[in-house]
Amino acid sequence: MKRLLVAAALALGVAQPVLAAGEATPPPRQEWSFNGIFGTYDRAELQRGFQVYQDVCSGCHGLYHLAYRHLTDLGFSEEEVKAIAAQKQVPTINDEGETVERPAIPADKFVRPFPNEKAARAANNGAYPPDLSLITKARADGPDYVAALLTGYEEPPADFKLQEGMQYNKYFPGHQIAMPPPLTEGAVTYADGTPATVPQMAHDVAAFLHWAAEPNLEERHQIGLKVMLFLLAATVIFYAAKRRIWADVH
Ligand code: HEC
Repeated sequence: MKRLLVAAALALGVAQPVLAAGEATPPPRQEWSFNGIFGTYDRAELQRGFQVYQDVCSGCHGLYHLAYRHLTDLGFSEEEVKAIAAQKQVPTINDEGETVERPAIPADKFVRPFPNEKAARAANNGAYPPDLSLITKARADGPDYVAALLTGYEEPPADFKLQEGMQYNKYFPGHQIAMPPPLTEGAVTYADGTPATVPQMAHDVAAFLHWAAEPNLEERHQIGLKVMLFLLAATVIFYAAKRRIWADVH
């Protein structure tokens, strides 16, 4: 029995996560309007985040699961969405059977920055800029992590060996990332006049990417609330019914 306990303790010990020296710093917790059961998206923030994606990130990262028409969800009008889509070109076949380009329309998926993975790697020092449509779901503490990553570039410690073409980022596992710091002060000019500081842009684009990953969050929260209210009402009714049915039994 004792042996068994020792073995179990050892097994548990081994299963503990090992914090190695190169382990990424946990991202600081930020305030998000969409957290909690009453959480909703802040449309102005999402529009700013989209602007950051469009002006900065879309040069390297795709959003494979989004179509331009989905942007009406952020509060853009149909006309605005048409104009946003038309800024990008997509290949099409003309009447002569040749491949030509036409402006994108709201029904088109977001235009990808590179025709294929090889072209993407060739342009990025061998690294592949991942699709960002589900990134906040694919990483622990998604929005916190994305916002931290974008602001986490630093000079490497003196004894750190940084490889050619890599950047030091304290929030990236292993600390070496092939993405050059994408945000600089004033990289975008916000349509709503918000000052475009690096933390502001990082926060906005992380919120936008969370919407991209979970556009139905608000609906899910609402249904959850309705289900809770229904269960509460059902409990009261069933309790009253039980009292009535058992009233004559002593
Ligand atoms: C010049 C190209 C370039 C731009 C612009 C760029 N990225 Fe990246 N990004 C990359 C590359 C390359 C990687 C892969 C890095 C690696 O694996 O070392 C990457 C990786 C990432 C990752 C994944 C990190 C992980 O945990 O795997 C996120 C998130 C990300 N970028 C977000 C953004 C956001 C948000 C923007 C816009 C503000 C942006 N990137 C702009 C090239 C770019």
